[in-house]
Order: sequence, then C-alpha cells, then structure tokens
Amino acid sequence: MTNKTSFVERVPQPPENSIAWIPQPTQDGSFTFFSPEFGETFHSRQGARAEAFLKFAAATDLVARSHQPCLRLLDVCYGLGYNTAAALETIWAANPNCQIELHGLELDATVPQAAIALLESWSPKVQEALKAIAQDHHYQTPQLQAKLWIGDARQTIQQLAGFEADAIFFDPFSPRCCPQLWTVEFLRQVSKRLSPDGKLATYSRAAAVRSALLEVGLKIGTIPIGGDALNNLISDRPSSHEWSQGTVASFNGDRLCPLSQLEQEHLQTRASVPYRDANLSDAAEVILARHQQEQEQCQKESTSSWRRRWGIR
Ligand SMILES: C[S@@+](CC[C@H](N)C(=O)[O-])C[C@H]1O[C@@H](n2cnc3c(N)ncnc32)[C@H](O)[C@@H]1O
Repeated sequence: MTNKTSFVERVPQPPENSIAWIPQPTQDGSFTFFSPEFGETFHSRQGARAEAFLKFAAATDLVARSHQPCLRLLDVCYGLGYNTAAALETIWAANPNCQIELHGLELDATVPQAAIALLESWSPKVQEALKAIAQDHHYQTPQLQAKLWIGDARQTIQQLAGFEADAIFFDPFSPRCCPQLWTVEFLRQVSKRLSPDGKLATYSRAAAVRSALLEVGLKIGTIPIGGDALNNLISDRPSSHEWSQGTVASFNGDRLCPLSQLEQEHLQTRASVPYRDANLSDAAEVILARHQQEQEQCQKESTSSWRRRWGIR
C-alpha cells in the first residue's frame, strides 16, 4: 500500500513527538510540516522542494507547455504551496511572459499561512504570489490569476465546473491516511477538470490509485526511479517502494513512460481494488472498511504472492 514512508514516500512519525506546523528539515535542505491529524509529513523526507520539481512540475511537462501563451494549473491539496511554487518557477524560467491561471484546493488555511515563514528559497516574484495566496486566498497580476479554495476538496472542486487544467498536481496524504481523496468518485471529479491533452501527476504508485485512474478513463504512466536514486538505494533486491516514484495520467496517453512488467502485474492483484465513496461524503474509516471488505471478496492474486514473485521485501 502506498504511503509516504520510504525513499519515495513520506515518513510517518509518532504524533506525540510532533507539534503542528513546526518546520522539519528534509534531506535537500527544504522544510516540511508534520500533520498530527493524518500522521504523516507533508513531503518526502528525501526533499520537499525536490519532490515538487520532480514529481509534479517535471512530470507534467511544464517547460514544454510554458511556450503556450496561457497555462491553467490545478493544485489539489495545496498545503505549503510547494507544487505551485515549483510550477511557477519552472514556467517563468522558460517563458517569463507565460500567463497562468491557478486554482488550489486546501482543507486547512493555517497550513499555507504557516508556510509563509518558509518562502525564502523561492524567487521574489514567487514569494510574493505565495504570500498573497496564503493570506488573501486570491492573487491577481497580469501574469498570474490565482484562487485558493478552502474546504474539503470533494466539495470545493464542484466550484470549478468548466475549468480545464493543462496540469493537475494531485498530492493528498497517503491513501491509508486520507482515502477520501483517492476514490474513483473523487478522481472522476478531478479528471473532469483535466484538458484533453493535460497531465495529472501524483507521487503515488499504489495499484488502488492507478486502477481508479484507469476506471475514470485516463491512461497512466510511471514516474521512473532516477539513475542516481536507483544506484544509491537498490541493493541486492528491490524493497517495497523502489519500482516507481509516482504516476502520471492523461486522456491521450502521449509521452507517458510505460509501466514495467512488475507494475502491470501489480494492477492484477488485490492491491488494485480501488477506494469508493459514491456520495463524496463518507468518513475515512467508512471508506477503508468498504475497501477492506471488497478486497477480501476479490478473486485476484494476493499482493503478497506478487511480492514474493518479484522478490520485493
Ligand atoms: C501531503 S499535503 C500536500 C502538500 C502540498 N502539496 C505542498 O506542496 O506543500 C496534503 C494536504 O492536503 C490537505 N487536505 C487534507 N484533507 C483534505 C481535503 N479533504 N480537502 C482538501 N485538502 C485536504 C492537508 O491539509 C494538507 O495540506
């Protein structure tokens, strides 16, 4: 099951050791927060800033797209705003004249507000935008029109009828901790905000997430493990999180990195049973219980047998 716990995942920590919104360093020198409510850090321990550039800005082809006069971005689970910041830096470095329309969805307004203290590594233009978005929940200049929708994304996304994003950054806490944002029904709502040639990127490579993306009509690719990371981390056998750094999805399937045989077979296991929330309103425990029941009744190969077959610890 995907969570944020290993090389490419986030590290859960005991809630008793943490205080909300105290900056915690990650390995690239940037800071993240820990959520006592969800029991996870907001970013990979390997590097919060690096994660935003690699798994979101690069994965959605923002350099190539920046040559369009206008770009539309949807940041699902805005948090500290790092994915937005990395996107703005990437686009404006390639084309300073690109106009951007951005919508962010975030439950807790105190998160981006607390992150104002962590903005200094971004360019002055991006710092100004993130500060205004955090404080006022909107920001408008000739080059950036931004709105931050505060509330449960399952509801706030309804406000975006007709909006079609060139890039969607999909960054909830892990499926085990926040299943309500990884359901087929929510991903269907999100996919309705993706343009025909847009890309959605997420750090998750969970089979349940990938099968939900397929169920809503998207084609999927992997975010491969980079060479350095692979050399540093793979020893004699792959561990449970080393096959991918995430997933990219689009309607047209153009320029997606194909899933490996290991990943394709993962989609045939019980791990691929997706989360469901028909009315977009169930509590996490209800969604998890329903998911467990569906997995128990499922006739697919067990995930442990798939792991054994591929030598995954
Ligand atoms: C993993 S963090 C996102 C990190 C963020 N993308 C960044 O770059 O800083 C997950 C975020 O989802 C938010 N969240 C949790 N449940 C939510 C919900 N139902 N609707 C919208 N946001 C939610 C949390 O408050 C948190 O900020």
